[in-house]
Amino acid sequence: MALMDIVILPDPILREQSSPVERVDDELRRLVDNMFETMYHAPGIGLAGVQVGVTRRIFTVDCAREDEEKDPICMINPQIVWRSEELSSYEEGCLSIPDYYAEVDRPAEIKIQYMDQFGKEHERHCDGLLATCVQHEFDHLNGALFIDYISKLRRDRVIKKFAKLSKQKSARSVL
Ligand code: NI
Repeated sequence: MALMDIVILPDPILREQSSPVERVDDELRRLVDNMFETMYHAPGIGLAGVQVGVTRRIFTVDCAREDEEKDPICMINPQIVWRSEELSSYEEGCLSIPDYYAEVDRPAEIKIQYMDQFGKEHERHCDGLLATCVQHEFDHLNGALFIDYISKLRRDRVIKKFAKLSKQKSARSVL
C-alpha cells in the first residue's frame, strides 16, 4: 500500500466531473487500498478518487467512532436513489480544504446504490454522520465542494486564501 498525494483547493481537477469505473479488478482494488490508507493517515472520514487525482466515480468512507471498530466502505458508481425531506446540519470539513469548516444542511437520510471493490452490488440506507459524509463524497464525483453551500462572499474568501497559499508554496519550491 502507498500513500497518495491529496489534491488541494484551488486545483481545477476538483471541479471536474468524474467518469464511471468500467472495470473492478486488482488494479482498482490496489487504488482502493491506497485510498483507504491515505484517508486514515490524513486523518479523514471520506476520500473521493478525484481528491487523489483519479477522476473516477469512486470514494471511500469510514464513519466509525474512535471507540468503535473500523467500518471501511468503498462505493463505486454510486447513485442516490432517495433523499429525505428532513435536513440535518453538520460542521463539515474536507481533506482538499484543510483547516476550514462550515455548517452545511443536507438531507438527513438517503438511500444509495453502489458497487463495492469486489463487484458486489449494494443498496444502503444512510443516516447521521454517514448520510452527510456519503453526500459530501458523492458531490466530489460531480465537481462539487461543501463550500458551494455557503455564501458566495465566504466561499470567495476561502478560495482566495487557498490560491494565495498555493502560490506561496510554488514560489518556495522554485528557490
Ligand atoms: Ni471532501
